[in-house]
Amino acid sequence: MASSRRFKLLLILLAIVSLASFSPALPALSSPHRLHSNPKGGDRRFWIADDKFWKDGEPFQIIGGDLHYFRVVPQYWKDRLLRAKALGLNTIQTYVPWNLHEPSPEKWVFEGMADIESFLNIAQELGFLVMLRAGPYICAEWDLGGFPAWLLGIEPALELRSSDPAFLQLVDRWWGILLPKILPLLYSHGGPIIMVQVENEFGSYGDDQPYLRHLVALARRYLGTVDFSTGEDPWPIFQLQKKYNLPGKSPPLTAEFYTGWLTHWGEKIAVTDANSTAAALQKILSLNASAVLYMAHGGTNFGFFSGANTGENEKDYKADLTSYDYDAPIKESGDVQNLKFKALRNVIQKYSRGSLPPFPTNNEIARYGPVKVSKVASLFQVLHALCDPIQVIETDQPVSMESIGQMYGFLLYTSEYPEKESGSILSIPKVHDRAQVFIRCSLADNERSLIYIGTIERWSNREFAVPFIKCSSNVSLFILVENLGRLNYGPYLYDRKGLLSAVILDGTILHRWRLYPVSFNKLSSILRSNPIMQVADPQNVDMTEEPRFYQGSFFIDHKNHVKDTYISFRGWTKGIAFVNNFNIGRFWPLMGPQCTLYVPAPILQHGENIVVILELHSPHPELMLNLVDNHGLLMLIKN
Ligand SMILES: *[C@@H]1O[C@H](CO)[C@@H](O)[C@H](O)[C@H]1NC(C)=O
Ligand SMILES: *[C@@H]1O[C@H](CO)[C@@H](O)[C@H](O)[C@H]1NC(C)=O
Ligand SMILES: *[C@@H]1O[C@H](CO)[C@@H](O)[C@H](O)[C@H]1NC(C)=O
Repeated sequence: MASSRRFKLLLILLAIVSLASFSPALPALSSPHRLHSNPKGGDRRFWIADDKFWKDGEPFQIIGGDLHYFRVVPQYWKDRLLRAKALGLNTIQTYVPWNLHEPSPEKWVFEGMADIESFLNIAQELGFLVMLRAGPYICAEWDLGGFPAWLLGIEPALELRSSDPAFLQLVDRWWGILLPKILPLLYSHGGPIIMVQVENEFGSYGDDQPYLRHLVALARRYLGTVDFSTGEDPWPIFQLQKKYNLPGKSPPLTAEFYTGWLTHWGEKIAVTDANSTAAALQKILSLNASAVLYMAHGGTNFGFFSGANTGENEKDYKADLTSYDYDAPIKESGDVQNLKFKALRNVIQKYSRGSLPPFPTNNEIARYGPVKVSKVASLFQVLHALCDPIQVIETDQPVSMESIGQMYGFLLYTSEYPEKESGSILSIPKVHDRAQVFIRCSLADNERSLIYIGTIERWSNREFAVPFIKCSSNVSLFILVENLGRLNYGPYLYDRKGLLSAVILDGTILHRWRLYPVSFNKLSSILRSNPIMQVADPQNVDMTEEPRFYQGSFFIDHKNHVKDTYISFRGWTKGIAFVNNFNIGRFWPLMGPQCTLYVPAPILQHGENIVVILELHSPHPELMLNLVDNHGLLMLIKN
């Protein structure tokens, strides 16, 4: 998925490797019987010929939908897949985000939400085929288009999506782990995977042919005999799909049929009409063409994984919402009682053999009501605990987050300068993405003396005035920089975070910086042991714009009452939230349009449930959260 809707339908097909067991049009591809000689596979065959998909000897119409395992808690994979089944889909399409599976070099993660094999097995148990979009670049409105952020910390800088040998070596290592896991899950081996897509939207920018050929060769090496749907030379597909495909190799397929659209912070929520979406699908299916709904179910960008897009230039930055509802027929919480689901299901029913599974009921959503939170600590007060002292970096000039291994969230930059006689002008030409600036006398050691002087945002960067403060010492400068999500598409993909330029005060560059990487790994124990908690006085709310942690809890009195809910952040400003230590994402009601965050039941428990919020600016005046039973709030803002 990318921002330019128009070119997509053509480009998306670009590098689909179908796992055909043989291919009459491509006699050069050896060993037609190799793949289906596998005893487990039996006579299972999926291939492309005569401009059709063929499955086990019969023409096959793919009626699929995207549903990404990494946007749904694993306990709900089956629930969401069953809903996709009831929509009438026969195929599930998913990306594979490299950054989820290799969060740091050679640290392989395939558990929990990253347990792709379990997801694919459940899909198969429910009778789905699978189209796997293996990347390594995926776009997907996902941080850095699925690339691990540590790629941006490597020097000399890698050229992403190219045949740069240093980059290809890392791709080889990743696919060397991934593809052997995929091999037994291929259709011809008894698994659900009928096609593997290589790269994504290549050609809409970028033009490195050897890179694509390298990926195809890798797929062949690990997955065996494969039939590359664009022929031996993948390149011409970018000019025109059908014309350049080998004869008979172009089954009509709309690989991303948009059921809705993405929304960035600050935009109106994207909503598309159910009837016209259904009518468009009807048109495609009536031509015996295949279609894959993007999305069947969008889900949620939990944690720090949401991506971002740019407009005209690098500064024209737009971060994606936490919610990836996408106005898809299966809503973020699994809701199917909506017009779009009904309309699409009616169309799909006409092109399906037999009747579809019965219409599912919605999951119940609980309204747990208001939750009072209390101030626990200021971020600066607990900095020493959030930030391992050995992680503190001293540099002459600010450096990027990636270059010191702080991939997500926040990095605090501090420096100091001699006291001035009057106010000053501060400028930071390059901030990715948002910086809150504070000063205080360097000898004053308490947070009360911190003065907030303003926020610099990447999209509206300007210099601003620093007020005069009377100090008998130097003045300390604190710049808390937030990474709002790396670009996932376009020419500025190489999107490092942090302060990417010098910091200039009255025309002079500041030197000697200390960088504090903020980690939330031990958050709960830090907040528990922090003495401020006991003295915190909720009646005495300090409204200064200082990043602070707030904590509250709510009780669920019976295990049958553990249900999905939404937290409404109306009245709060901007931050991130954790429920029982699970990062449910960013809230930013001031920017909108999303004002509630989805809380899936599996992260809740019978008994006490703890909510911790990092609010970067001013809190709700009464320190209240509200646990509500609908996302309707999402739709009401900015309409
Ligand atoms: C969509 O179709 C349904 C069923 O045909 C109809 O009742 C409804 O009025 C239509 N809505 C719009 C907005 O066209
Ligand atoms: C679609 O397939 C059916 C059954 O094979 C055939 O009768 C019909 O003519 C096809 N329609 C088109 C538009 O190709
Ligand atoms: C005050 O800041 C300047 C500039 O960073 C530095 O050279 C000097 O050592 C600092 N003074 C003290 C007392 O820390």
